[in-house]
Amino acid sequence: MALRFRLCARAALPEGGLAEFTVDGVTWPVLAGVIDGEIIATAGVCPHEDVHMVGGHLEGTALTCPGHGYTFDLRTGACTHDPDLTLRRYRVSEQAGDVWVELI
Ligand code: FES
Repeated sequence: MALRFRLCARAALPEGGLAEFTVDGVTWPVLAGVIDGEIIATAGVCPHEDVHMVGGHLEGTALTCPGHGYTFDLRTGACTHDPDLTLRRYRVSEQAGDVWVELI
């Protein structure tokens, strides 16, 4: 059974961009925003070497890590530089104006 956590108010999500959020009781940050009309939430650290992704370059649904420049597709989490790496995506839902994520 997945555990849901409140991420933020829906209005706090950036449109066409990503912001880093912390979740009470969770040690890693969550990166989230509205991309092409879809709420996207991913792990906030890179699966390569744990650099925070919040400063990465976003072009469409491609997010480039500020660490070593690996690019990840936000729709799938797939890395274009290393097929063994995946940026973890989280299932998202909205309820009463808040955004919830399934982190575990
Ligand atoms: S830490 Fe992200 S590409 Fe190396």
